Amino acid sequence: MNKKRILLTGGFGYIGSTFIERYFNKYSITALDVNFFGYPKKLKSKTTKTIIKDIRDISIADLKDIDIVIHMSELSNDPMGEIEPSITEDINVEGTKKLIDLCNKSNISKFIYMSSCSVYGFNEDFANENSKLNPLTEYAKSKVKNEEYILNSSKDYEVKILRNATAFGFSNNHRLDLVVNDLVHSAIKNNEIKVLSDGSPIRPIVHIVDICRIIRYLIETDSSKKLLLNVGHNLMNYSIKDIAMAISNITNIDNLSFGKLDGDKRSYKVDFSYLEKSLPGFVFKYDLEKGIDELLRNYSAFDEQIQSRRIEQLNHLVENQILNNEFRFV
Ligand SMILES: NC(=O)c1ccc[n+]([C@@H]2O[C@H](COP(=O)([O-])OP(=O)(O)OC[C@H]3O[C@@H](n4cnc5c(N)ncnc54)[C@H](O)[C@@H]3O)[C@@H](O)[C@H]2O)c1
Repeated sequence: MNKKRILLTGGFGYIGSTFIERYFNKYSITALDVNFFGYPKKLKSKTTKTIIKDIRDISIADLKDIDIVIHMSELSNDPMGEIEPSITEDINVEGTKKLIDLCNKSNISKFIYMSSCSVYGFNEDFANENSKLNPLTEYAKSKVKNEEYILNSSKDYEVKILRNATAFGFSNNHRLDLVVNDLVHSAIKNNEIKVLSDGSPIRPIVHIVDICRIIRYLIETDSSKKLLLNVGHNLMNYSIKDIAMAISNITNIDNLSFGKLDGDKRSYKVDFSYLEKSLPGFVFKYDLEKGIDELLRNYSAFDEQIQSRRIEQLNHLVENQILNNEFRFV
């Protein structure tokens, strides 16, 4: 049988490169990426084709002979989204609109979009897919706009929108600007678990391997329905303090400190029951403890690089005039 042909935007990134590593044998994957954070060498031979391009410049030719689009190429967290709101609007929102408008003229059968649980912003009760949204940052606002545009404007192909919890887990293009990854890393490098806030905010978390397995599940099952799904597990709504304690227990590092309640108002608990109903038979592989073990195993041979913290790399590229002030390569 012919392999499904996938266009994976943002394919060089933290989650994209994990998807390629897992499924390069199963699918024919074209990775389109502007290459802000590098592309792991070992993945080059595993990608059917790479297109180094800004999503803002995507053209209909990039969708030729593509069956499924998985869209991940955005500024991917709150601090990056705040650098300059107009760039977030340009890349995340206008880039996504352009992609959808082109998909409407193409022959694709499915579009999978990476949204985020950060659209819930702050809540005290568990949020489900029908709860009122409360996006507190430019990043979260861009996700809300994109969800609406995709749901209202997409034509003739299946749409799957994943509101992912905060990801964790080791990747070939690793990120240290994610809470679990960062705390485990600082624990073993500095023998200290230092939480900058008071640890009270709640963050649901999900392992990148499980995100990729959910994407695969959605690729392999067909339904005409437009699906919008919280992606995570009901047992994985943690406070930052819970996460720090779990790391302390596993590493035996009891040098644990907390700061003050800071200005960051984001704290959300999420109900993931709809995922269980929508993906019958799907079983998560990773809980927090298993994910911490996996990080510890990989960190012994891992050297932090500037791009491991995405915002530092973007600032570096702008300061050295490699990127201009619209995040275009000079
Ligand atoms: N990592 C998480 O915790 C998490 C949680 C929820 C949602 N998401 C979403 O999942 C997607 C992937 O996240 P990630 O963690 O892999 O992020 P990442 O930053 O590692 O990867 C994003 C990739 O997109 C590329 N990119 C950025 N701007 C681009 C542009 N203008 N044109 C082309 N490529 C561009 C980058 O070069 C990078 O390789 C993002 O949309 C993110 O918002 C991530």
